[in-house]
Amino acid sequence: MKEDTMDKFNWDRSDLPEGFMFGTATSSYQIEGHGFGGAGRTHWDDFAATPGNVVRAENGLKACDHYHRYAEDLDLVAAAGLDAYRFSVSWARVMPEGRGAINQEGLDFYDRLTDAMLERDLKPCATLYHWELPSPLADLGGWRNGDIANWFGDFTDVIMGKIGDRMHSVAPINEPWCVGWLSHMLGHHAPGLRDIRATARAMHHVLLAHGTAIDRMRALGLSNLGGVFNFEYPHPADDTPEAMEAAAVYDEYYNQFFLSGIFKGEYPARVLKAFELHLPKGWQDDFKTIQTPLDWVGLNYYTCKRIAPNDDPWPSHQEVDGPLPKTKMGWEIYPDGLHHFLTRTKDVYTGDLPLLVTENGMANADIIQNGQVNDPERIAYVDVHMKAVQRAIADGAPVEGYFLWSLMDNYEWALGYEKRFGAVHVDFDTLTRTPKASYYALQDALRR
Ligand code: FCB
Repeated sequence: MKEDTMDKFNWDRSDLPEGFMFGTATSSYQIEGHGFGGAGRTHWDDFAATPGNVVRAENGLKACDHYHRYAEDLDLVAAAGLDAYRFSVSWARVMPEGRGAINQEGLDFYDRLTDAMLERDLKPCATLYHWELPSPLADLGGWRNGDIANWFGDFTDVIMGKIGDRMHSVAPINEPWCVGWLSHMLGHHAPGLRDIRATARAMHHVLLAHGTAIDRMRALGLSNLGGVFNFEYPHPADDTPEAMEAAAVYDEYYNQFFLSGIFKGEYPARVLKAFELHLPKGWQDDFKTIQTPLDWVGLNYYTCKRIAPNDDPWPSHQEVDGPLPKTKMGWEIYPDGLHHFLTRTKDVYTGDLPLLVTENGMANADIIQNGQVNDPERIAYVDVHMKAVQRAIADGAPVEGYFLWSLMDNYEWALGYEKRFGAVHVDFDTLTRTPKASYYALQDALRR
């Protein structure tokens, strides 16, 4: 089948192991509408209100208004034939100041949302933190402050004390790399810092908070607890030793730092050399908490990068353009990277632990024409990545599920509402939802 005319997948349920779980993923700030229901201010509201950070300075105050339309949205998840729904809870919706007072309306919302998933036979897969830090905690240094591990632990107790009994699975923090490096070293996400000391501390504290939350949930009696990490395949820009070294550095701070901390109790050598000066006092003692055992690991995967050396201070490299076809994010489409990370994660870090693809998908220029949205590019993208998953399984990786990012078009962080990742189109003026061709292709493959 020619990729640009694709309207069906080249796989169906029978191509995957018995019990393989299909789901779709979203996150609170990107869809709920943070202006509703008494949620507190977050550092994303502050970041978006600062000129130059976000396309058209857009924020998540209304987003998809999932807060009021969640029943309709979950109907769509169920009608697609999906087994599971990966969602996140907002710390500031539950605890507007980040600590202390609880917003009962917020807790009740997640309680209703959970029951609505169960009523539709959807497995609730929760993420505790998908990037909307309460502003009062950002004022205290946010992820740079080591106290965040206990603040996060307390939030975990409150939210999981309410809905934990009905969760299929829980992961504390979505994509630690984005919380640490992207937000404190590159400044592309809130809080928008460009500071190596802040980065080193944030990356360490994210892991400490992760382990603390896992321990708190075990104490509450919860099971099936994991972690969700993101990966990008780093190609050296050429075959010089300098480019190879640059790609190795990238691989360490992007793809290995967090897994290494959790599964080996150490940080990769090149990163440690650069961070050692900046890590908080006594950081080695924190591995006791960081290494608390997990039940599964989730991988978010979208793309590869081309890494070239430069004369800047460490990490002394830059990204250069690559030759493969790209999505509307400008991200090259490279499914072999997904196969690579699934197999390497098993071989180097997790062994027999179940793996899940917790995010994969593409931004596309989807437009409604005569009430229909044709997105053959997205069908082709998911198709080649599902093939990579099948290859990884054949090569022994224990992959037990795949979640499409995302259910519907939503607030794509610094890119505002411009980049459309959904299987369902959202008109951001009327908030009308229209399933795209990829939605119907998924429905067809899951029924076949
Ligand atoms: C991931 C994020 C998710 C979304 C996708 C496109 O890094 O977890 O919120 O922005 O990328």
